[in-house]
Amino acid sequence: MSGPSTYVPGSAFERWLDQRLPIMRLAHDSFLAFPTPRNLNYWYTFGGILSFALVVQIVTGIVLAMHYVPSISGAFASVQRIERDVPFGWLVQNIHSVGASMFFLAVYIHMLRGLYYGSYKAPREILWILGVVIYLLMMATAFMGYVLPWGQMSFWGATVITNLFSAIPVVGDPIKLWLLGGFATDNATLNRFFSLHYLLPFMIFGVVVLHIWALHVPGNNNPLGVDVKSPADTVPFHPYYTVKDAFAMAVFVLLFAAFVFYAPDSLGHPDNLIPANPLVTPAEIVPEWYLLPFYAILRAIPDKLGGVLAMFGSIGVLFILPWLDTSKVRSMRFRPLARWGFVLFVGVCLALGWCGGQLPDKAVYQSGRYVQTFEYRTAAGAIATGAISARTSAELERRAHAEEARIGAAMITMHASVAPFQIKVVQLSQMLTLYYFGFFLLLLPILGLIERPGRVPDTIAKAVLKDAATAERSA
Ligand code: HEM
Repeated sequence: MSGPSTYVPGSAFERWLDQRLPIMRLAHDSFLAFPTPRNLNYWYTFGGILSFALVVQIVTGIVLAMHYVPSISGAFASVQRIERDVPFGWLVQNIHSVGASMFFLAVYIHMLRGLYYGSYKAPREILWILGVVIYLLMMATAFMGYVLPWGQMSFWGATVITNLFSAIPVVGDPIKLWLLGGFATDNATLNRFFSLHYLLPFMIFGVVVLHIWALHVPGNNNPLGVDVKSPADTVPFHPYYTVKDAFAMAVFVLLFAAFVFYAPDSLGHPDNLIPANPLVTPAEIVPEWYLLPFYAILRAIPDKLGGVLAMFGSIGVLFILPWLDTSKVRSMRFRPLARWGFVLFVGVCLALGWCGGQLPDKAVYQSGRYVQTFEYRTAAGAIATGAISARTSAELERRAHAEEARIGAAMITMHASVAPFQIKVVQLSQMLTLYYFGFFLLLLPILGLIERPGRVPDTIAKAVLKDAATAERSA
């Protein structure tokens, strides 16, 4: 794709084809001879793993669509039929549903790798932005796919998420109406979600082609973040990275298979095995694990529109990341402070994911106990006071009732209870959301200006930078 071609047709047919459609030349230059930095580690195998996961989702999805019935009366039963009656339907269905989780696991590792090694920096901004577009398309595809089995979580998830759009002033309600195809989540919704769920993966495929094209113009970044200086710093993609990618893919497939064969439903919510019922709201409505951090950000803001803006903003900020990070040093390997910021960022994303799966009012930290005081009349006729305490409000209420029953008619009054100091899930989510945005909007811009880069080891300074003085300067 870039640089002079090294393709030499091996037969008369290949020569004939090359003069008419140089597709073999394209494949050879892009995937066999492509000069690749010699120091790529295993984090660099996830691009290949993602390509594999995308193909698996498309192939299994097409087979599922042959048996799936996109109507509210037939959808749930058709998925059950696929799992029980269609030959190997259980396998195809399990691969597709577990595959969605594996796809997201791989994409998160891939994105964090890019973040750590500064792969979003010049000249790879477009490559990164195309990645963010792919990620948005993946989220939309996964959300619509989750609606298709028409279980309780499908129905209520679709209802909650489409309802978010009504928070947008003026155009919000028309957008919601347009998304649902009516005033409520119904047959029209299921039909259009099925149609779009079929379409979007092909759009993802198209953007992936652009993504790889944009990768092949500047070439790969590498864990050092130092540009390759000569052909001696590179090796041909084949066989060096085809073999490395194949090995990593085999390990990935083992993990994938472990879920498919031993715990296919463990990653989903059990409520989605109950057919959708518009008259019964589930006790909790939660998205799949890979969308939980964004759900936590949405709920962290008490205002509906604010929550929607924060949620979309948390992905929107990734689009401008290449211009937010002011550091001249690409890889965080040589950025001691940014590296800690990154480690904390990963922890914050995991914690946000945990928060997204909890009830917002749940206490994550509590100092002290709930206390309630009361007054009662003693046997001698005097007025006395008593107090009860408990760790939870429910326990306090239970004890208060027991106390009231014990003292009986002599009870005069129960005072209002005093709550202990608590940090609830929603407050923790607010703190984590603050760090999430702070990392991109404050930490990276400021650290880039003030941070002193770490020392480049002599081996790199001499062998890669070809400049011994650099090692001394950066010491
Ligand atoms: C279907 C999803 C995706 C596929 C198939 C895919 C594919 C690839 C491939 C094959 C590579 C080269 C090998 C490697 O570096 O791992 C790559 C590199 C890259 N991808 Fe992706 N990608 C996807 C999603 C994303 C997303 C969501 C982002 C970021 C938001 C992203 C950002 C990058 C960056 C920055 C690089 C260059 C890494 C470097 O050279 O250091 N990709 N991608």
